[in-house]
Amino acid sequence: MNSRTASILGWVAATGTTLALAQQPAPPAPNFAPPNTSANGVQSMAAGCAMCHGTQGRVVAGSSLTGLAGRPKDEIVQAMAAFKSGQRPATIMHQIAKGYSDAEVAAIAGYFAGQSR
Ligand code: HEC
Repeated sequence: MNSRTASILGWVAATGTTLALAQQPAPPAPNFAPPNTSANGVQSMAAGCAMCHGTQGRVVAGSSLTGLAGRPKDEIVQAMAAFKSGQRPATIMHQIAKGYSDAEVAAIAGYFAGQSR
């Protein structure tokens, strides 16, 4: 042990750092906040899809991404479930889908289904 290591260990012992770390409570289990399925809540969740799927789910002409506006709700829900489970291969949607609970996905899908194309 060199003197530098010794002094770090001395500092750790003096400050009780390891003890403090050992006593830290386990991080809380991952949890979803209660879904905000009010009209505003759903709209702001759907806004998180807009950068790729267009404002209100309408993509610009010629976009390589699919618009979601006017798509049947069940189709969006099923696609999200397949992304989430990994059943449907994806470059990014498998991660995005994991960020929403089933209730949130249903609300977002309902929102897009109700938008005109
Ligand atoms: C960062 C860009 C990005 C964001 C944000 C994003 N998506 Fe996607 N989405 C994609 C891409 C890219 C695909 C094609 C599959 C893949 O490669 O992941 C896709 C595919 C989809 C599909 C399948 C479309 C089809 O025609 O089969 C659905 C449904 C979908 N996204 C819903 C959503 C919803 C709902 C949100 C918001 C909660 C969202 N996406 C946010 C990029 C995005």
